[in-house]
Amino acid sequence: MNKNAQSAGPAVPVKVAVVGATGYAGQELVRLLARHPHATLTTATASQATSTPRRLPALARIWEGDVQPLDPAAVAAAADVVFLALPEAASAELGATFLAAGRRVIDLSGAFRLRDDAARKRWYPATTTMPEGVVYGLCEFTGAHVHAARLVSCPGCYPTASLLALQPLAEAGLLAPGADVIVDAKSGVSGAGKAPSDRTHFCENHGSVAAYGLFGHRHTAEMNQSLGREVTFTPHLVPLDRGILSTMYARLAPGVTATQVSDTLAAAHARSPFVRLTGDALPEIKHVAWTNFCDIGWRVDEATGRVILVSVIDNLLKGAAGQAVQNFNLLVGADETAGLY
Ligand SMILES: NC(=O)c1ccc[n+]([C@@H]2O[C@H](COP(=O)([O-])OP(=O)(O)OC[C@H]3O[C@@H](n4cnc5c(N)ncnc54)[C@H](OP(=O)(O)O)[C@@H]3O)[C@@H](O)[C@H]2O)c1
Repeated sequence: MNKNAQSAGPAVPVKVAVVGATGYAGQELVRLLARHPHATLTTATASQATSTPRRLPALARIWEGDVQPLDPAAVAAAADVVFLALPEAASAELGATFLAAGRRVIDLSGAFRLRDDAARKRWYPATTTMPEGVVYGLCEFTGAHVHAARLVSCPGCYPTASLLALQPLAEAGLLAPGADVIVDAKSGVSGAGKAPSDRTHFCENHGSVAAYGLFGHRHTAEMNQSLGREVTFTPHLVPLDRGILSTMYARLAPGVTATQVSDTLAAAHARSPFVRLTGDALPEIKHVAWTNFCDIGWRVDEATGRVILVSVIDNLLKGAAGQAVQNFNLLVGADETAGLY
């Protein structure tokens, strides 16, 4: 079932910290790690060195610690693995700090996702150099490399939903060379983080749907990097608190059949514990909300050589904190599913 299964896990729980615990993704990390069988959550921090220690009300009786002011030296002293759930510029700086202190890092931001210097300079300019030992942690495809990583760079939420469906077809040569691949995705508002803006304000978002980031969303570069080809990506904001639905349109290489598409996806995910292939039964956000699953459905029109795939995830779990914990499991040699079902 699990292609990345390593062992029964570490002999003693690993000491972990969450930096950015007051954010949407950070709170999910605290919730998962507080009950994780192979982790001891030692520290969770806010953004300021001067912030007042406080409880997270939603996590009462799940984690009884206080969120602490940010003190990188204290975090490094208390944890062997540090999760960063921060804006990318803060991750770029603190990631390097924790690596220099000999800690292993699991970063949820985009700071360390792009290998190409020019692409990174354009989309994540705060990351001026890539440290040694970075692994892009899309567990289903790169999980075998995570155990040796010093820093695991977790994929973005839109790329996670889209690559789990598209990458097997691209790697098997089933997509028509040179033909456009369109990724048309919808996200709930928590994808934008907790800081309110005109776009995410309740009165703007409720009862509406808006496209944004045309030809300008940085997740495009991440999808291009993994697929080895250009995608046309349009994200939309929909009035949900959480969840992503990605609809992907592609031309198939001449002669590719519906059976080949199904067989390729089935083979790619035969031992992916969190990917559920639904075939003709198209998935919905409610099927995966509050879980670490990615559900993928698809239809093929053999007459015109086209495939449409639909995938759904919870952006805060499979798209962020759940995937980060999945990577933690691989990093420390535990079963990939530990603490996630
Ligand atoms: N939301 C998603 O669906 C999602 C999915 C995948 C990846 N991500 C990525 O995960 C990261 C966190 O996202 P989020 O949605 O949880 O963001 P968020 O809700 O805005 O939370 C940001 C967190 O970072 C802290 N912070 C802000 N500026 C900081 C600084 N300069 N130094 C240290 N800490 C700082 C905040 O602390 P205060 O409370 O003290 O301000 C808060 O704890 C981002 O890089 C995001 O792109 C998010």
